[in-house]
Amino acid sequence: MTNGNELPAVELVIFGAAGDLTWRKLIPALYNLFLDHLTPEKFAIFGVDAKHVGVEELQKRLLDGVNQFSRRGKAKPDEWKAFSSHLVSTIAGNFNDVATFEDLARALNSQDKSWDVHTERVFYLATPPSIVENIVHNLGTAHLINDRKRTRLVFEKPFGHNLASAHELNQILLNTLTESQIYRIDHYLGKETVQNILAFRFANALFEPIWDRRYIDHVQITVAEQVGVEHRGGYYDHSGALRDMIQNHLLQILSLIAMEPPAAFNADEIRARKVDVLRAIRPIPTDQIHQYASRGQYGPGWLEGERVVGYHQEPDVDPNSVTETFAALKLFIDNWRWQDIPFYLRTGKRLAQKVSQAIIQFRPVPHQSFPASANQDWLPNLLEIDIQPDEGIAIHFQAKQPGVDLRLSSQEMRFTYAGAFKTTPPEAYETLLLDVIRGDATLFMRADQVESAWGAIEPVLDAWGNVAPSDFPNYPSGSWGPPSAEALIAQDGRQWLQPIFVEHKE
Ligand code: BG6
Repeated sequence: MTNGNELPAVELVIFGAAGDLTWRKLIPALYNLFLDHLTPEKFAIFGVDAKHVGVEELQKRLLDGVNQFSRRGKAKPDEWKAFSSHLVSTIAGNFNDVATFEDLARALNSQDKSWDVHTERVFYLATPPSIVENIVHNLGTAHLINDRKRTRLVFEKPFGHNLASAHELNQILLNTLTESQIYRIDHYLGKETVQNILAFRFANALFEPIWDRRYIDHVQITVAEQVGVEHRGGYYDHSGALRDMIQNHLLQILSLIAMEPPAAFNADEIRARKVDVLRAIRPIPTDQIHQYASRGQYGPGWLEGERVVGYHQEPDVDPNSVTETFAALKLFIDNWRWQDIPFYLRTGKRLAQKVSQAIIQFRPVPHQSFPASANQDWLPNLLEIDIQPDEGIAIHFQAKQPGVDLRLSSQEMRFTYAGAFKTTPPEAYETLLLDVIRGDATLFMRADQVESAWGAIEPVLDAWGNVAPSDFPNYPSGSWGPPSAEALIAQDGRQWLQPIFVEHKE
C-alpha cells in the first residue's frame, strides 16, 4: 500500500460533521488510516454542520466515537492529539444558504495559502438525502467544484427511492459535476471479503472453468442481521429491506459473483462488467410476484435469551406500518453463463444470527457409482463465501468416513482471514475513504449501476406498493424469516442452507 506521504495534499470537508455517521464511522476510519500512515502528510479536515460546534468541542465528541467504534479500541492520548490536529476548522451554517459555502471557501483558500500547494478537495455529504441537491448547487455557486480533476464528492445512500428518483438525482448531479467526480458509497464494496470475491475468481485458475450454468446448480446470498431498526425507525419506515439492503448491498454481491472477467483492473472496466450483470437480470413478472419474492416484518420474540419488541413497537415507526423488514428474491440472469440458474437473495432484521454469506451450490456428479447405503449423509458440493462475521471461504466436499463400511460424509476445507493473515482487516469505511482520497472509484457505484439496480427491483417495489400485506408481523424476532421465504425456495426443491452451516460449525 502506498504510504500517505506520497499522496498530494488533501482537504476533506465533512457536511454533517456533528452527525451520527461522522462520529460512528468516518472519524474512526480516518483515525485508523492515520495510524497506518496512509493519510497524506498535508491533510486537513473541515467540519460543516447546521449546529454550532467549535473545533475543541467537536474533537471531544469525535474522540468518544473513536473510543467506542475504532477497531483498535480506545485511542492513545498522544496519537489522538496528533490526529485531531488535522481537524482544523468547523463551519456552522445553513446548508441552504450560500453564505455558509462562502465561509467554507474562505477557510479552504486560506489553508491552501498556508501550505502553498494545489490541494485535492473531497466533499463528503454525511447528510440526509433531502439536502444533497442544495449542497451541490451551493458548492457550485461558491466555485468550489469547478476544478473537475481535483474535487470529488462522496454521496451516502439512499441514492433515490426508486428508478425514477435515482435517475432524476443523477441528472441533477451531472448538471453540475462530471461522473468522475461522483463517489456513491455502498459500504459493502469496502468489505475485505466482498473484494476478495474478485481475487478468488480472477486470480485463481481453479474455479473459473466451472463457474457457470453447466456446473452450478444455484447461488444463495444471505445478509442476516440480529439488530432491529435501532434509532433509525424514521428513515427505515420509509425504506424497508428491499430498498435498504437488496437494491444496493445484495445486488452488488450478486454482480461480483456473476460478472464476466474484466480485461483490466480499472474502475471503468470493473464497473462495466458489473453493470452488464444488473442489466441482464430477467424482469420479474408482476403477475407472479409470489413465486419470485417474499416479504416479512418482525414481531416480538427472543434473541440470545432476551425478549425484544416487534417492529410496530420500535421508536419512530408507525404502529400500523406495512414496511418490510425482511425480503427474499429469486432472480435469473439472462446471459450465456447463467441462463436459468436461480440466484436466491434474502435479508432481514431481527433474524436468528448475524451472518452475511454467499453460497454457490454445485450440481451433483453426473453418475452415482457408490451404493445408496454409502450416500446417506450426502450433501452437494458447496462453496461458501463468508463475508461476516467470520470472514473466510469454505469448500464442502464428500469424503469417505473411516471404517470398513463405505460411507460418505460431507466435510469442509476452510480458510479464514483471521487464521491466515493474523491481522484485523480494515473497516469498509477505511478502504473506501482511502480510495476517495486517492481518487480511485473502482469500489463506488456509477450512475448506470445504481439505476440498473433500481430497475431490477422495480417490479417488486411496484407490486408490494400496490397491495398491502395482510399478515404483518409474520415472523417472530429470532427466527429465520416468514414461511413464505421457505416456500420461495422450496417450490424449486431447494432449501436455504445457511442455518444448517451455522449449526454445523459450532
Ligand atoms: C446499511 C443499512 O446500509 O447496512 C442498515 O442501511 C444495515 O440498515 C447496515 O443495518 C448493515 O451493514 P453491516 O456492515 O453491519 O452489515
